[in-house]
Amino acid sequence: MTNKEFLNDEFLKSIDTNFKFSNKPIKRFKMSEEPAQIKLKLEKLMNKINEINDCDLKKNANKMVFSDGNWNSKLMIIGEGPGQKEDEMGKPFMGDAGKLLNKMLAAINIKRESVYITNVVNYRPPNNRKPATTEINKYSQFLYEHISIINPKILIIMGSTAMEALIGCNYKISKERGIWKDVIIKGKTYLSIVTFHPAYLLRQPDQKKYSWADLKEIKNKINELNIII
Ligand code: URA
Repeated sequence: MTNKEFLNDEFLKSIDTNFKFSNKPIKRFKMSEEPAQIKLKLEKLMNKINEINDCDLKKNANKMVFSDGNWNSKLMIIGEGPGQKEDEMGKPFMGDAGKLLNKMLAAINIKRESVYITNVVNYRPPNNRKPATTEINKYSQFLYEHISIINPKILIIMGSTAMEALIGCNYKISKERGIWKDVIIKGKTYLSIVTFHPAYLLRQPDQKKYSWADLKEIKNKINELNIII
């Protein structure tokens, strides 16, 4: 055997015969997290919220309201907390504010089913009162985890409660809305925008013009970043 033949022989022997050549492209890009893992993390988070035992909101509520929509979405909406309908149905934005939210999304060609929706607090505050700062702080730790699991490209922060949870309490929504912000959660920066809550728009319809400006801003950003919703 010549030197060349020997090398060839060694080379051929070294090939793993179980290896199959494939016409499929090699996955060179880092894939996003496996769907099963995301589901598991969401279930664990739901269990953690379910285990809360020192909370008046929970004591007075019928159901936990965790989320609705597509957990694979690049767009995540954060509202305030469940109302009566949501408390009955166990899903966020089911009542009149939810109907308006659906219309707002439809106005920029987005289906509600293709976004991911949650609230700051997961149990209905009695008489639909605004959650207290202590309640916002208590539930914010779950919200931060929720956002980290969903890992959206854009966060839409609806109303002053969500703004307090994610940006802080020393801000006025009328000044902050419509401006892109970097919100850092668990070390990761999320491109975020504050906008009016649909329930507020139902009470103050003259403010819808600002909401429309924010929606167009969101749509432009989605296009600019080539986000597929
Ligand atoms: N308002 C909210 O903020 N969330 C809901 O789920 C319903 C109304």
